[in-house]
Formats: sequence, C-alpha cells, structure tokens
Amino acid sequence: MRTSQAMQDCIQDLVDDTRGILAADESSGTIAKRFADIQVESTEENRRGYRDALLSASGLGEYISGVILFEETLGQHNAEGAPLPEVAWKQGIVPGIKVDKGLGDLPGAPGDRITFGLDGLAERLEGYKAQGARFAKWREVYPITAHNPTALGLSANAEMLARYAAQCQALGVVPIVEPEVLMDGDHHLARCAEVTEAVLQSVFAALRQHGVVLELMLLKPNMVLPGKSCPVQAGAEEVAEQTLRVLRRSVPAAVPSINFLSGGMGPEEATLNLNALNQQPAPWQLSLSYGRALQQPALHAWRGQPENVDACQQALLKRARLNSLARQGKYRPELEE
Ligand code: 13P
Repeated sequence: MRTSQAMQDCIQDLVDDTRGILAADESSGTIAKRFADIQVESTEENRRGYRDALLSASGLGEYISGVILFEETLGQHNAEGAPLPEVAWKQGIVPGIKVDKGLGDLPGAPGDRITFGLDGLAERLEGYKAQGARFAKWREVYPITAHNPTALGLSANAEMLARYAAQCQALGVVPIVEPEVLMDGDHHLARCAEVTEAVLQSVFAALRQHGVVLELMLLKPNMVLPGKSCPVQAGAEEVAEQTLRVLRRSVPAAVPSINFLSGGMGPEEATLNLNALNQQPAPWQLSLSYGRALQQPALHAWRGQPENVDACQQALLKRARLNSLARQGKYRPELEE
C-alpha cells in the first residue's frame, strides 16, 4: 500500500468526533513507579497482565480509537496466545508505539531537556510496523522556569520532533507530535500560555521546514494551566479559553486532531477541562491521549490481583466513557456518581 494511503487510513481509524487515544506506553522506569504506588513489583508478567486487562476491557473500542504501547507490549500476548496489538485491533483500537528513548539534559541550555532516539529510528519503525503498529509517538519536554525554555531549547526540541515526524511519514507511519510543557512550578497561567505558544510556533516552523504533511499527523500538546504550586488555580472555562487562544495562534487548521495529554491533571479535572474545550468552536477535533487520567482509577482497582481484573476494566471503561462524553461537550460532574 502507498505510504500516504496507509497514513490516511490510519487517521480515519483514529479520528472521529467521539473517541480518544489511550496512552499505555509507560517506559520500564515509569511503569515501575506506577506499580510501586500500588505495591506491585514490575515484572514482565505483571506488566503483561495489566496491559492485557486494559486492552481486553470489553467495549473499550466504543470510546477509544487508538492505544499507544511501549515496545515490550507490542511483542506480548494474552492468555490465549493472541498478540496484544491484535487484541486491541479486534476492538477497533489502532495500535501505536512510543518510539522515543527517554530524556536527558540539553547541553548548552541549563534547565532544558532533550529526548533521545533518532539513531536507528528507521530500522526500528520497520520492525514496529511488522508487529502491527500503525502510528508512533515522540515526546519532548519543556520545564518552565524564569529562564526556561531557552531559545536553544525551543529550536533543538522542535528539530527533534520534526525529524522524527518526517521519518515516520517517509515509512507510512502516522506521527503523534508531543511537545509537553510541564505543570511543575509556581508560574501563573499566563506564563504557561506564553511558553506553550512559543513552543507550538517553533514546532510548526520546524515541521514545515522538514516537509511534514500536517494532514497526516496528530498533535499531542499540554493544556494551558497554571503551575501545580501556583496559588491561583484556574477553572475549566478559563483553561479552555486560554488553551484555544494559544492553539488558534499556533496550530494550522490542516492538522486533523489535537489530542491532549493529561500531564498530572486528576482524572476528573482532565475530563472537565476537555468538556469545556469542546463547548467552543474549533477547526480541529479536540480529543485526548491521556495516560494517568484514564488509567489511575483502573490501576488502583487492579492492585496486581487477577481477581481484580474486572474492577480494573470497569474503572477504565468508566473514565473512557466519561471522556467520550467530554469529547462531545456532554459531560457533567454528576455523571461521576
Ligand atoms: P499523561 O496523560 O499521563 O500525561 O501521559 C500521556 C503521555 O503519553 C505522556 O507521554
């Protein structure tokens, strides 16, 4: 199949007006931290069992159109021997893959970060495709301080995202471009807005330079929020208004869908904010690609016990359903009961 046709088909399967993407691509280090919170050891079997439980939650495909997996999961199987990517696709959930290799400090720009993993990416993508992945994800991270991100941080991170995205598209894999401005700190919402606008504008300038086809990618940004320790917090309407203002100034309408990360928002807060965003007109689909905000209740219901798999799946389905309502601007906090 022509690479652009493969990507168009993938976008069609991923993007509609009711569903979102589940991020279940925690790296070995991150999943070990999540499991430690519930006193579960991060063994290969525990990781397999948990992710099998998520992907086989019956009816999940009604609310979730795609799942981002970690490399290890792509090669794992359910108890009946079916590959986990196939288990997802049986429910109409497109399997995708996190392809970046984690973060380090950016030399020359104290306080800024940079993501690794471009070397050998083409070969790895061919392998992931053979295992069933149809889209990819790469995350760059931008901490906010009085001095960060620096001009060098903005351009270096944008360059990484653009090179990754161009490489994916050359091989017929839809890239999710994820520039994440972190919530850590006591900065005000206006500072997050200013940084997010600079980040997105630098990213789209680099994407254009590298010839990335905007119609065949998805954007996974942060919402515009005050820092976690800022004394002035913001309501959902303000978050939605400021987020949309920044997006309108920075993201071409050719991008089919914007799928927000949850980034440390609580599950209900993430749903409420997505709902407020979907109360306003916008030229893109406004959807989600939540990790923690979809999984946290499910993880705590599971606690590593096979007898809790049903409770785990019910907790995931509940968050997925409520976020699907939020996608349509139809969520109300009373529905949490
Ligand atoms: P959170 O929604 O937990 O921020 O995770 C999304 C993600 O994929 C981060 O790369």
